[in-house]
Amino acid sequence: MAVLEHLTSRQAIDLENRYGAHNYHPLPVVLSRGEGVYVWDVEGKKYYDFLSAYSAVNQGHCHPKIVGAMIDQARTLTLTSRAFYNDMLGQYEQYATSTFGFDKLLPMNTGAEAVETALKICRRWAYQKKGIPENKAQVIVCENNFHGRTTTIISFSNDPVAREDYGPYTEGFIKIEYDNLIALEKALQNNPNVAGFLVEPIQGEAGVYVPSEGYLSEAKALCEKYNVLFVADEVQTGIARTGRMLAVNHENVKPDILILGKALSGGVYPVSAVLADDGIMEVITPGSHGSTFGGNPVAAAVAIAALEVIKDEQLAENAMELGEVFREELDKFIPTCDLVTKVRGKGLLNAIVINDSEDSSTAWDVCMALKENGLLAKPTHGNIIRFAPPLVMNHEQLMDCVGIIIKTLQDFSK
Ligand SMILES: Cc1ncc(COP(=O)(O)O)c(C=O)c1O
Repeated sequence: MAVLEHLTSRQAIDLENRYGAHNYHPLPVVLSRGEGVYVWDVEGKKYYDFLSAYSAVNQGHCHPKIVGAMIDQARTLTLTSRAFYNDMLGQYEQYATSTFGFDKLLPMNTGAEAVETALKICRRWAYQKKGIPENKAQVIVCENNFHGRTTTIISFSNDPVAREDYGPYTEGFIKIEYDNLIALEKALQNNPNVAGFLVEPIQGEAGVYVPSEGYLSEAKALCEKYNVLFVADEVQTGIARTGRMLAVNHENVKPDILILGKALSGGVYPVSAVLADDGIMEVITPGSHGSTFGGNPVAAAVAIAALEVIKDEQLAENAMELGEVFREELDKFIPTCDLVTKVRGKGLLNAIVINDSEDSSTAWDVCMALKENGLLAKPTHGNIIRFAPPLVMNHEQLMDCVGIIIKTLQDFSK
């Protein structure tokens, strides 16, 4: 392996292109080190990370407490499978359920797996508790959703890139407009076979669409009225990203089923989870769902440490404060520049909308220019650039980043 130790960016990119499946289109930067809000490429150039691995690295790169917990546990016991008990899982389940206010947690690894798990719980609840006839359960989802890329999940996506030639698709989903309570009530009315409503509290991948105030609490009330489970996918919005531990906390909503992933491990290890109260989670019985790695001792140790860091370092509060500064600064700048039409977001999950057609390369070109200026971000859905730095950022660093972004946009518009 020695020959691989000192790759240039070109060599690393060539290797991935030659030997890896082309299922991503990365920005041409090869990273080899990270610490806090910074990452370095193989040539030693330093960047602010404004993507945070799609909001997985909320606690900052290589957080010593989380990495320490992983190393200690990895030296002690890594995997038992759930054929046996391990001495970490129960402690993690107790800590996480008390943190989020649920009776039970079901551990998984990736976000998509957790979404699949939530859908299975929701369907079982529909048959066993609500009394929906066999195979008739339906789940309401939103247009432009992003919940992952398994066969079932892409079945209810409307992104042609994610769906094309992967059919036949899984049935049992009703798609409605996001942020539209009338559409939700219409879908719930006169349909006794609806089991759940699956929703992102902010649509991240779609371009950081923040719904109207009151949408989540009123959607939850409608779900209660029609005896339907409110299922919140907080894989991207959760774990302090939007300025509260969960994005639903902004509206004091407790979901019936909560889906977490990404920053549940601080980006150190794949850890995801589904949480629910006993009346719902008890539909899961031995053998009816599982995963070899789900709930392994390393994941448990890492997740406890990752949640402790969020609380100890008050990262939700920091995200709330810095997010307001970020949007204020960009709101001041935007009227002076034709290139950007708006900034939107909550906490440190934000996006700017580039003033060009959705199929133009402008957003990509801006990201390339930002990269040259030492800040890494990625376009999401055409002309939108998401800005989601690690939540351990301080005010001075944020202002430095605002300066880089404004200067890049100014140079770009010349
Ligand atoms: C809201 C949401 N749900 C689910 C997922 C899927 O997570 P994973 O990529 O870990 O499968 C993502 C990933 O971006 C997401 O943003």
